[in-house]
Amino acid sequence: EKGGWSSFMAKEVSEEPEAVAKTVLGRIRDGAVVIPELEALDDLFRGITRVIVIACGTAAYAGMVGKYALEQWTRVPVDVELAHEFRYRDPVIGADTLVVSISQSGETMDTLMAVKYAREQGAKTLSICNTQGATIPRESDAIVYTHAGPEVAVASTKAFVAQITALYLLALHVGRVRGVLSAEQSAANVRELEAIPAKISRVLETEQAHIEQFARWMGDTQSVLFLGRHVGYPIALEGALKLKEISYIHAEGFAAGELKHGPIALIEPGQPVFVIVPSPRESAELHKKVVSNIQEIRARGARVIAVAEEGDAAVLPFADEVLRIPLAGALFEPLLAVVPLHIFAMGLATAKGLDVDQPRNLAKSVTVE
Ligand code: F6R
Repeated sequence: EKGGWSSFMAKEVSEEPEAVAKTVLGRIRDGAVVIPELEALDDLFRGITRVIVIACGTAAYAGMVGKYALEQWTRVPVDVELAHEFRYRDPVIGADTLVVSISQSGETMDTLMAVKYAREQGAKTLSICNTQGATIPRESDAIVYTHAGPEVAVASTKAFVAQITALYLLALHVGRVRGVLSAEQSAANVRELEAIPAKISRVLETEQAHIEQFARWMGDTQSVLFLGRHVGYPIALEGALKLKEISYIHAEGFAAGELKHGPIALIEPGQPVFVIVPSPRESAELHKKVVSNIQEIRARGARVIAVAEEGDAAVLPFADEVLRIPLAGALFEPLLAVVPLHIFAMGLATAKGLDVDQPRNLAKSVTVE
């Protein structure tokens, strides 16, 4: 069932455009999100005072991306917490808390136990899940399925973009219900979301071969760092996780603003650093800060690989390599910026002769603690 692909992971990365498209499909009417499961909770959405997103691993990074959209579009405070941390403390939750779980498999033990715990405490639970009829959605008050299709490779790729998409649909719906977003604002964001699949396809078409070649060339690398700000920060974490997971090298993601608080000490000549560069059109201020972070690490000898918007020339003098993504609204950039990082992790693992679908020590769904 791999079709012509060399691995399930390669096939699943190629399906990232579809994963977004199918998660949106049939859920939009006249520029508004229409999901009957959600409409049943509209009274709750009007009354909630906080949202807690719980998940593990890549799903938690999708949650971190979703936090920016949820807060911006609904003005409800959002916390994102690893399920295994959440369930072993004494979180402040109640009937006005919405707990959103995210899980590709729907079977992750820690996430399941956290959902059960939240319910016992009186919170309403909503499950974002890719697997029909899995345990976590069955234990939740409401479900929004991602329609990424079955994910076989251990490393999660297409499910990640589908999870962000589902969170955005949720955020747009809740934003409308709470009167934070106008119909026009909702429609504009829906248009952005609907344009994403074609833009991901463009990244695959224009950058895949280039990134794979670059990854082969980096085959001996021992350590890679990833930097991002705002929605680029969880993407940096995701890029690092994927690299650890399938290529077994040291990788770490940082918020770019943290550099001076410690991580910059790691920079020595030749250290590869991926930097997720925000759009200069969307946020001139953030863009300027990231370019200055690039200059700081470059001055210390870092090898800079910038993931930047098409046409952003400001990065050119300081980057050794530029991976391009199409133009998109600020909140939508993560759905594009993550794609080169998925391709890179796969390319490096392949260059090292590793089995990208079945990395050592890992299982697709973690049904034990
Ligand atoms: C990373 C990865 C894991 C999963 C995590 C949660 O590529 O696959 O970090 O994201 O184990 O799994 P689910 O989403 O099934 O709960």
